[in-house]
Amino acid sequence: MNPRPCVKSDGVAWITGGSSGIGRALALQLARQGWQVVVSARSKADLDAVAEAGEGPGAIHAAPLDVTDAAAVAETVSRIEAQHGPIALAVLNAGIYRPIRAEAPDYADYAATFAVNLNGTAACVCALAPRMVKRGRGQIAIVSSATAFGGMPTASAYGASKAGLVNMAECLRIELHRHGILVQVVTPGFVDTPAQEETEFPKPFMIGPENAAKRMVKGFASKRFEITFPRRFTWMLKAVYALPAGWYIPLVRKQTGWGKAAD
Ligand SMILES: NC(=O)c1ccc[n+]([C@@H]2O[C@H](COP(=O)([O-])OP(=O)(O)OC[C@H]3O[C@@H](n4cnc5c(N)ncnc54)[C@H](OP(=O)(O)O)[C@@H]3O)[C@@H](O)[C@H]2O)c1
Repeated sequence: MNPRPCVKSDGVAWITGGSSGIGRALALQLARQGWQVVVSARSKADLDAVAEAGEGPGAIHAAPLDVTDAAAVAETVSRIEAQHGPIALAVLNAGIYRPIRAEAPDYADYAATFAVNLNGTAACVCALAPRMVKRGRGQIAIVSSATAFGGMPTASAYGASKAGLVNMAECLRIELHRHGILVQVVTPGFVDTPAQEETEFPKPFMIGPENAAKRMVKGFASKRFEITFPRRFTWMLKAVYALPAGWYIPLVRKQTGWGKAAD
């Protein structure tokens, strides 16, 4: 069956990491478009605040969840579907950024990053895919990052996790197509959210979370595999990373300030 983008009459939209930044802005926009939206994150208070801020004609419901707990993910998906109906659109957006200093890396930062960004997303896919396959319909959007395109300073955990997510989305897109399930990947450049407070280097072409959410909503209505924005930045990055690694690695080092002698 040829997958098509889901519409609000197909079921609810579920957004992980829906309490803040991009996920929050997305929940508010989808609710304004009439979707029933369920948001998940760890902080119940933050989720309740998003639910309260939601304006109709749709509505936002809170489902607290730590995506690193795979059993809780399965249980939450089951509860959401029992309470609100089938999950038509799942936006797997929960993610953390922990900068790694290569001179003194901390294994705990790698482990935490992979646990949320990679394993957390995998847990969601495991809970969702069999249900969507059974229905012969569904849409899964995995939120990666432009950092996935190639190496960046301080991103040896985050970038690796986000590059893994692009590959994960490609595999799922290949396999789930024949079951009528649309799989997409989102690769944003810099978006002005609390996650950006940890970033030390320049953030060219940074956009606001509402703008990011608008571009995602537009992308979800299409069958495109990759939803990338702002394109003037992400396409330029793609062009840089299309160069041989022997060229782009020194170029990235220079442009990000890592070409200077160490203190
Ligand atoms: N901002 C950017 O420039 C940018 C660029 C490219 C890609 N992205 C990606 O976009 C996504 C959203 O980022 P953002 O910038 O909007 O960040 P954010 O404002 O920090 O939001 C992160 C969200 O993830 C949730 N979260 C974190 N750990 C979780 C866990 N273990 N279980 C469930 N939820 C968890 C957070 O809530 P709790 O802490 O309450 O759990 C929060 O709702 C991330 O995947 C990020 O990597 C961001």
